[in-house]
Amino acid sequence: MNEAKIIDKPKVHSQIESKSAEIGFSMPSDIYVVTLLKTLITSKPKSNILELGTGIGLSLSWMIDGLDSESRLTTVDNNSELIKIANEFFGTDSRVEIVCQDGSEWIKNYKGDNFDLVFADAWPGKYSETDEIYELIRVGGFYVIDDMQSQSNWPDGHQENVDKLIEYLEKREDFSLTKMNWSTGVIIMTKKY
Ligand SMILES: C[S@@+](CC[C@H](N)C(=O)[O-])C[C@H]1O[C@@H](n2cnc3c(N)ncnc32)[C@H](O)[C@@H]1O
Repeated sequence: MNEAKIIDKPKVHSQIESKSAEIGFSMPSDIYVVTLLKTLITSKPKSNILELGTGIGLSLSWMIDGLDSESRLTTVDNNSELIKIANEFFGTDSRVEIVCQDGSEWIKNYKGDNFDLVFADAWPGKYSETDEIYELIRVGGFYVIDDMQSQSNWPDGHQENVDKLIEYLEKREDFSLTKMNWSTGVIIMTKKY
């Protein structure tokens, strides 16, 4: 198996990569995890999906490709420049809501339906407001985080954050958890009850 061969890239993929280089965005999601997100989302027809950390929209482009016509997706980022770019690429898709807001505030104020999949790719929902976000996942729904494997550019003390998070997640009995030493280090959890 050649896992390095990426198939079915979204139509806008190369435009997003160019935009990323143009503005010097250095944090797009890893290509492997975004293919996984698309596959997981495809398993959830008529779903309600959440991304925390829109960034340049690379993961968003793959997640949207996994949506069926009756699904909807909300993506949140606090950077107005990035949100403007996401709107340029995806703003006309009626299934997609692009929100420029602090993720912590957004999570605390959210009153809508629970989610079938949450990709937490910003501090809020990954390292803060975690219990709040786990509450917002439907039974059978997925929670996905990446960047769990040590990286040379991590700031001092970040390894401790990651270790504590993993230790906490391993103790939660309401989720089934899989840790994968693949891509940037991925954790997938499914809500049991
Ligand atoms: C790892 S990047 C996301 C990359 C994105 N998934 C992609 O593929 O392009 C993390 C993002 O979180 C956003 N962010 C950081 N702090 C935030 C906060 N408090 N609320 C919302 N977004 C935040 C940053 O602006 C950044 O775009």
